[in-house]
Amino acid sequence: MREYRIAAIPADGIGKEVIAAGLDVLRVLEEREGGFRLAVETFPWGSDYYRRHGRMMAEDGLERLRVFDAIYFGAVGDPQIPDHVTLWGLRLPICQGFDQYANLRPARILPGIKGPLAGCGPDDLDWIIIRENSEGEYAGNGGRVHRGLPEEVATETAVFTRTGVARIMRFAFETARSRPRKKLTIVTKSNAQRHGMVMWDEIGAEIAAEFPDVAVDKELVDAMTTRMVLKPQSIDVVVATNLHADILSDLAAALAGSLGIAPTANLDPSRRFPSMFEPIHGSAFDIMGKGIANPIASFWTGALMLDHLGEKGAAARLMAAIERVTAAGSVLTPDLGGSATTRDVTEAVCDALRTANT
Ligand code: IPM
Ligand code: MG
Repeated sequence: MREYRIAAIPADGIGKEVIAAGLDVLRVLEEREGGFRLAVETFPWGSDYYRRHGRMMAEDGLERLRVFDAIYFGAVGDPQIPDHVTLWGLRLPICQGFDQYANLRPARILPGIKGPLAGCGPDDLDWIIIRENSEGEYAGNGGRVHRGLPEEVATETAVFTRTGVARIMRFAFETARSRPRKKLTIVTKSNAQRHGMVMWDEIGAEIAAEFPDVAVDKELVDAMTTRMVLKPQSIDVVVATNLHADILSDLAAALAGSLGIAPTANLDPSRRFPSMFEPIHGSAFDIMGKGIANPIASFWTGALMLDHLGEKGAAARLMAAIERVTAAGSVLTPDLGGSATTRDVTEAVCDALRTANT
């Protein structure tokens, strides 16, 4: 029996609800598959922990997580605590401490889901956005002087390193190579930002030479937003900086039907450290505790995690079960126009897993 150690960190808001739902689905999948076991340990870190202990996670948090095979993460964010405190106290230390430099964000219109673009169906929108996840605009490099005075100055300097750009490019080209269409779009803003972004373009061109089988093109980030809306079929894999891909991936999630569906994987492709898997949607305090959060993003996130662990068959069967439920269309949460609860959708996916014949 293959065993994987999973650290679950539900954290804040609906993160708690959707991770619980995700673990229920993973249990049913594990029973059905038979070949592997997930040894799950849940950590109580997040904003409630902060209120009690003055920190978002235990002081030796990273040490404790290091031994796990993967981290299954909910969401951080709390209306009473500034976002930069919650984020820099939990999620970013894990991403940066474990060198999870490749953030993979699939966006696809699942069967039965209607996106906002007229005439755009599952065959027209099937993308993977690769986000640089270790530096760039999120490097935390900057400062403030003369606080509160009229002459106050703040800087927020993006940091791009050749190593950082080259490794994310290589990862993006490899991802593109693994897909049927083998297309990669490199997004920058090198017309206006003439240092870091021009280096991105140069490194992209250098690495492209190693992947002659991948069709590559370039797009400026502003033009990319229009292309995503007007010509979704022309896109396959996209690579962009930390901030650009953050913005593009929200647009991608909305175009694919709902932020409640979109999953993400924070990967350390070298596998020195555990990778972290989370839904994109965030803590969504407005719907917390109502039992109506869409758990599909956390199920899809679970499939990405199984895929990374090498359980490709189980990952594919989980995706198939999710798609059976969306295609049937009768059990959908309010963000998708339905009236089902988190529990209803969870049960429907568990049933689809139990009754699947492959
Ligand atoms: C995301 C989120 C985060 C980010 C927020 C919560 C800081 O928007 O994962 O896309 O910008 O990285
Ligand atoms: Mg975002």
